[in-house]
Amino acid sequence: MSLDLTERPLDRSIVDNLDAVERASRDEIIALQTQRLAQTLRHAYDNVPHYRAAFDKAGVKPDDFRELADLRHFPFTVKTDLRDNYPFGLFAVPREKIARLHGSSGTTGKPVVVGYTANDLDMWANVVARSLRAAGLRPGMMVHNAYGYGLFTGGLGVHYGAERLGCSVVPMSGGMTERQVQLIQDFKPDAIMVTPSYMLTLLDGFAKAGLDPRDSSLKFGIFGAEPWTNAMRLEIEKTFGLDATDIYGLSEVIGPGVAQECVETKDGLHIWEDHFYPEVIDPVTGEVLPEGEKGELVFTSLTKEAFPIIRYRTRDLTRLLPGTARPGMRRMEKIRGRSDDMIILRGVNVFPTQIEELLFATSWSSGHYQLELSRSGRMDELTVHAEVKGELTALDADHAMQELVRRIKANLGVSTHAVLHEQGQLERSLTGKIKRVVDRRPKED
Ligand code: DLL
Repeated sequence: MSLDLTERPLDRSIVDNLDAVERASRDEIIALQTQRLAQTLRHAYDNVPHYRAAFDKAGVKPDDFRELADLRHFPFTVKTDLRDNYPFGLFAVPREKIARLHGSSGTTGKPVVVGYTANDLDMWANVVARSLRAAGLRPGMMVHNAYGYGLFTGGLGVHYGAERLGCSVVPMSGGMTERQVQLIQDFKPDAIMVTPSYMLTLLDGFAKAGLDPRDSSLKFGIFGAEPWTNAMRLEIEKTFGLDATDIYGLSEVIGPGVAQECVETKDGLHIWEDHFYPEVIDPVTGEVLPEGEKGELVFTSLTKEAFPIIRYRTRDLTRLLPGTARPGMRRMEKIRGRSDDMIILRGVNVFPTQIEELLFATSWSSGHYQLELSRSGRMDELTVHAEVKGELTALDADHAMQELVRRIKANLGVSTHAVLHEQGQLERSLTGKIKRVVDRRPKED
């Protein structure tokens, strides 16, 4: 079945159900942001020693902010600021007012810790509910939640949003693929929320159980927490017969629900600009770029109490575009990757997502892949490890590898190696986010 959205009659309930602010004009949103930014800058300066010191050092005071363009004079916040203030140093309310903590596991050093007041949790549930409604969900639908529960914001973040919308939630968390497939068969959920890479693992699980995923009850999928391409979207939509949309967020800003793609348009993610103010900057100079130009995404929270965040450099690369389905709220283009994940191979910039697109163009790739950087002599080498669908023996592996290497060279201009693996050979992480780049080059001191 191919999905032709143009044939679907416009559902009046989509328009009728929007939050009032989703129907606001651009001018109304700007007025709201200006007022909320002024309050947030004051709140951070008065209650968080780190912000007071950083503003003072940059020679700015909260009162210097009069219009949105003034924000560029305020200092950025970066990940090390969070680590330096571990665990609770950036909280703007007494510890007793913190209703919940979340954090990243952190592969190196100290984890990042974030806190929420009861009001923050309420706002978060609202923006996630709004996101899920934009993704096509409606009250009464059943949702299978395979984002990890725990310190990671994914599981609990979307859980409370789905409950707020009025859905029945299956709090599955990640892992135990066979059990997940079984419960999807038995409970018949309308929607699934999961990382796109774990969705591919579920696809393998359906195949293993001898089930056709197209016969499953799933009609909507809400995928995020890692970069994924439109090529992967098409693969998931085709194999499961569902509508797949993109959800974005990060712990430092709140968690999932900062921005969400709308199922009718699938044209980038609407940023919930009544709560999160976006900027795109040149990652080298820090200059704010005009709308439409690609750069690093920066966020300032507008309503958070426990953990206000000022000009946080996400390292995510995208560009801002005008609103479509919600004209007052700008969109961000699907994220291509993080600046941390960008490989510079012999002077050429390569993003894992560019390789992903080429893999999905083959007939044999299952979409699971990992890139390995190594060094031979003075030369950096890139090896693409890719899993195949079905049996490796059924495939002319040499031919497939040569063809992939040739396509990468033709499209990206770099020479690489390719190694094919049987299904399930590449290591999966527990949160469901796959580590796309493994760097095995010797460390330089
Ligand atoms: O991954 C929050 C989340 C959970 C978002 C579930 C969506 C769904 P962190 O663990 O703090 O939070 O990781 C945040 O993940 O800066 C991006 O690099 C990446 N990321 C999140 N969503 C997307 C997305 C959660 N839709 C980091 N597309 C972010 C691309 C994403 N990258």
